[in-house]
This record gives sequence, C-alpha cells and structure tokens, in this order.
Amino acid sequence: MAPVAARDHRARSSSHSLLPILSLLCFVSIFLVLSLFRRASPTTPSLSTTLQLSRNSGTPSGASCDYSAGSWIYDPNYEFGRYDSSCKEIFKGWNCIAGNKSNARDVAKWRWKPQFCNLSPFNPIRFMESHRDFNIGFIGDSLNRNMFVSLFCTLKRVSGEVKKWRPVGADRGYTFLKYNLTIAYHRTNLLARYGRWSTNTGSGDLESLGYKEGFRVDVDVPDGTWAEAPHFHDVLIFNTGHWWWAPSKFDPIKSPMLFFEKGHPVIPPISPDIGLDLVLKHMTKYVNKEAKLGSIKFFRTQSPRHFEGGDWDQGGSCPRSSPLLPDQVEELFAIENNGTNVETRLVNQHLHMALKGSDFHMLDVTHLSEFRADAHPSTTGGKKHDDCMHWCVPGLTDTWNDILIALLNDIETKRSRS
Ligand SMILES: *[C@@H]1O[C@H](CO)[C@@H](O)[C@H](O)[C@H]1NC(C)=O
Ligand SMILES: *[C@@H]1O[C@H](CO)[C@@H](O)[C@H](O)[C@H]1NC(C)=O
Ligand SMILES: *[C@@H]1O[C@H](CO)[C@@H](O)[C@H](O)[C@H]1NC(C)=O
Repeated sequence: MAPVAARDHRARSSSHSLLPILSLLCFVSIFLVLSLFRRASPTTPSLSTTLQLSRNSGTPSGASCDYSAGSWIYDPNYEFGRYDSSCKEIFKGWNCIAGNKSNARDVAKWRWKPQFCNLSPFNPIRFMESHRDFNIGFIGDSLNRNMFVSLFCTLKRVSGEVKKWRPVGADRGYTFLKYNLTIAYHRTNLLARYGRWSTNTGSGDLESLGYKEGFRVDVDVPDGTWAEAPHFHDVLIFNTGHWWWAPSKFDPIKSPMLFFEKGHPVIPPISPDIGLDLVLKHMTKYVNKEAKLGSIKFFRTQSPRHFEGGDWDQGGSCPRSSPLLPDQVEELFAIENNGTNVETRLVNQHLHMALKGSDFHMLDVTHLSEFRADAHPSTTGGKKHDDCMHWCVPGLTDTWNDILIALLNDIETKRSRS
C-alpha cells in the first residue's frame, strides 16, 4: 500500500486519474472487513469475488509470490475432493474424519489466501504429467511424514497403480507406475546420527566432567536413514525442530545431548541450541556435496504446536474449532511471552541463520500454521494425551503441499527461462 500512497501524493494535481485506484482501495477494504465478518459467522457464501480480485493484483511479473503472508478464509461450500478418509496411508491418530473429531470436515474448508497472489489446490494429474521419472524425498520427523501422507493420498486418488517399496533408508515409499514418479519418507529426528551413550571406561573428557549417560549426537554424520537420499531424489524436503526442545527425551540432567564432532566430544559441552546450529551447518554442507545434479532442496520451517493450559504431559489441550485471530497468535507464540509452544519461532531463528545465503529454498509454513489451533487431532486416536502437534489429514498439510508445488513450479519456470 505504501508505494500507492506515495504516488497519490505526487499526482494530486491530476486527481481524476486517482479515481480507479481509490475505488480499488475501497473495494479491497470492504473485502477485508467482509472476510473478518466471515471469520465470525461462517455461514456466508463463498468468496469467489475476492479470489478474482486478487488475480489482478499479483506481484510484479516474474517475481515469485510470498505464499507465507496472507489470511485464512472460511468457505462453507468448499467440498474437499482431493482424497478421503479411506486413504490407507493416513495414520489412525491423524484421521480426524474417521475418528469423529467434531470439526474434522470444517478443517479443510479453510483456504489460505496469500496477500498478493492466489494459491489454488495443485492439480495432481498435471503435476505427475510434468514430473515423470522423478523422485521426491521428505526427510525429517513425523511432521514431515504428516506432509508426505497428504501428498501420497492426493496422487493416489488420480493414479491408482502404485508400487510400494522403500528407497535405501526410507521408512515408506511408493512409485506411481504410470508416471514412474516416486515419493518417499525418510525418518530422522535430528538429521544427524544419534544414539544412547553411557560411560564405559570412566576416564574420558565427558566422564571427568561428571557425565555418566546421555545421547551421543554426531553433528557431522547424517542419519543412516537419509544419507543416500541426496543421490536419489530430485526434490528434497528437510525438516527438524521438535526433538531439539524435547526435555522429556533429552533431559538436560538425566539424559543430556552430548555432541561429538570428528568422533570426539565437543568440550566444553554445548547446549542443544548451539548443537542445532552445528548440525545444520554440517548437514547442509553434506547435502550440497552429495545432491544429484539439478536437484531442488527445500527446508521446511517449524510446525507450531498448540498446547494450551499446559504442555503435552501436563494436561494441555487444543479444543478450539476455528483458527486463532492474529492477536491470539501473537499471545501464544511471541518469544517474549515464553509460552508453552515457544520453540516454534526459536527453531526458525536457527534455521534462517543457518540457511541464509545457501541454495536451500525455505518452505515457510510456520506463520500460516500458527493460526490453525483447530486443525490438530486433539483427542482423536484415543491416546492418553491430546495431540496438539500433528495435523488432521485431510487438513493443513494439504496447504503445505500446495505451497511446495507452487514454489517448485516457480523455480522450474525460472530455470527453463535462463
Ligand atoms: C465414529 O462414528 C461412527 C458412526 O457413529 C462409528 O461407527 C465409529 O465407530 C466411530 N469411530 C470412532 C473412532 O469412534
Ligand atoms: C524411472 O525413473 C528413474 C529416474 O528417477 C530412471 O532411472 C528409470 O530408468 C526410470 N524407469 C523407467 C522404467 O523408465
Ligand atoms: C520460560 O518458561 C519456563 C517454564 O515454562 C521456565 O523454566 C524458563 O525459565 C522461562 N524462560 C525465560 C527466559 O523466562
């Protein structure tokens, strides 16, 4: 808006020419106000006019859109047809429709509207047609599996013949035979290799500092589950985050993370957040060295949790049935507030620092996901604790995939032009 205002100022003498701009501005503000109302009363009709308007107000030609800034719009008439709850790959605890979560069908009626462009659901047939003999690897924790499941179900719906197999190290993998397109999920919590450590000689550097047991994290050694993946996949989507702020597993006293570099303990010992920086440094270097020629690398930013009233093991829950408002998002996630889910933005600070200037593309899903307190499985799946960390499928990870594929198309278009 700022550049328009500046131009207004200079062009005051020829105010006739301003009329179209001013009326456009009024038009836009009316829609902003309307969409706020729609948030409050989700029974109003769909917003096709808004969508049409935005097509004309895109970013300057050639520039890729910033898909991460925008707002959620409720469309009660939207019929989710991408796949359904019978898709076998959906983990039971994430299948909110089959699990009878009360707002499960509403979850997929919220559409993400980037501020300066449009994000439509990607077309799975067109995508596969244009990506024959192609491999896509998701590498990370269960939140990346959450995203993998959504992509699998979307592609499976339109391309029945699938061969189930696992590329080296993968946890799950499928080839869509008609297109020879393979997608796989490589499970790794920290990206780097780690395992239980306990003193055996009692005479090393760590022992002399009083350490008896913990987890050894080799900051410069990729987890075996994905070490081969860069040789195989044409697109790689990485993530790590939740496990670095998981005191129930890596208890700083009882089972601390003990970092090793070149096979030796890092002395003096470093805290997990510094360890994360070292891991990111080494792992991105490894990927750059090993990746297939021409491959495209994404790093997905942190997926927010929405525990309210306590952490996951303190009775925290996520009972909301519609997305948060912007103020509520800030209250829950601002780093200064040091709330239950404070790691969300902390992790991102480390990611942005480590990846600045690298040729990894950021798949920035954090802020848009921060709104979606309504989209977690919550009590679905019948576990002892509410799940306010993973996402219902269908649901938010469908939007993540839409953004992934929009970015991929942007990158490929740019490449084919140069
Ligand atoms: C969900 O509701 C259906 C129909 O009432 C029922 O058959 C099914 O057992 C329920 N599923 C769960 C997980 O409670
Ligand atoms: C399938 O694609 C891979 C590349 O990902 C290629 O090496 C292989 O030859 C293809 N297979 C067939 C049957 O075309
Ligand atoms: C943040 O909150 C946790 C407990 O919720 C507390 O242990 C920690 O000291 C707090 N950190 C800061 C910087 O206030």
